[in-house]
Amino acid sequence: MSEFHNLAELALNREGQSWGNLGYWKTAIDYSDACRALALLLGEQAGLDRQSVIFDAGFGCGDQLLLWLEHFRVAQVHGANLSRSQTAHAREKLTEAGFPGAATTIVEGDINDPDIWSATLGTNHPSHILALDCAYHFPDRAAFFATAQQHLVPAGRLALTDFMLSDHPQMGPLAHRLLRWMLKRAHIAEANIVRQDRYRRQLREAGFGEIHILDISEQVMPAFAAYIQALRHKQPAERGRTKLGWTALVKYTVTSRFLKWAYDRSILRYYVISGTRTRRG
Ligand SMILES: C[S@@+](CC[C@H](N)C(=O)[O-])C[C@H]1O[C@@H](n2cnc3c(N)ncnc32)[C@H](O)[C@@H]1O
Repeated sequence: MSEFHNLAELALNREGQSWGNLGYWKTAIDYSDACRALALLLGEQAGLDRQSVIFDAGFGCGDQLLLWLEHFRVAQVHGANLSRSQTAHAREKLTEAGFPGAATTIVEGDINDPDIWSATLGTNHPSHILALDCAYHFPDRAAFFATAQQHLVPAGRLALTDFMLSDHPQMGPLAHRLLRWMLKRAHIAEANIVRQDRYRRQLREAGFGEIHILDISEQVMPAFAAYIQALRHKQPAERGRTKLGWTALVKYTVTSRFLKWAYDRSILRYYVISGTRTRRG
């Protein structure tokens, strides 16, 4: 069965890299580097260190798991990903990189399924729960916050990169319809796209405090759009590790134009968010 989250982004990456996020384009000029930069920013905001026990929600093809292990030298990684093909790819990647143990502590499954958490964590409690460019895809992000809070150690940290509705969107009925259509097409529940005050409230209600929210929209949304725009004008042979197919190019073009539009009209904003578990569930 074909999957919405699959290995398509491999074509955007350099040889040996398999990132699949929007990237943080502050200094990066290459897709793989921009994706890695977004992951690095998240890891730094989360405060990862050698004692960290990670639960990674939506770990993609596993590049970020390697970053946690090799760059931040974390103690353990666990995680769940809805995608079968990506989870298999991540397992291979971890095994080839010399982390066969980590390959056994990541599972395929929906983050909103409570059994998935015990399947990967066993009796462990993570010090950090991460969601890199994926929580907007979860069936119910508020439920994810509540489950994360229950599993974290006391004073454990949740860190994400995520979309929110801007405080002053320039949006008439037509723009609203376009937004709804794009969200549906991109497998994003409309209820997940909320303003910052509501997002903060959802975190507080789930038991998180010390909430930090950093606006990185400019280095993500128009920058990803500019990268795809430039890619469209390149010769097929220059377009990445493998030849980027026409269908994939159309998909990225539609996504990037939408992101540029949503940024220019101040409809969506993109953030790094972190919070600390402040009370018991
Ligand atoms: C935009 S990709 C980001 C992938 C990866 N974090 C990265 O930065 O390369 C979104 C990821 O979220 C995962 N995902 C989406 N819905 C999910 C769910 N309900 N449970 C677990 N993972 C999910 C997808 O399979 C995919 O790996």
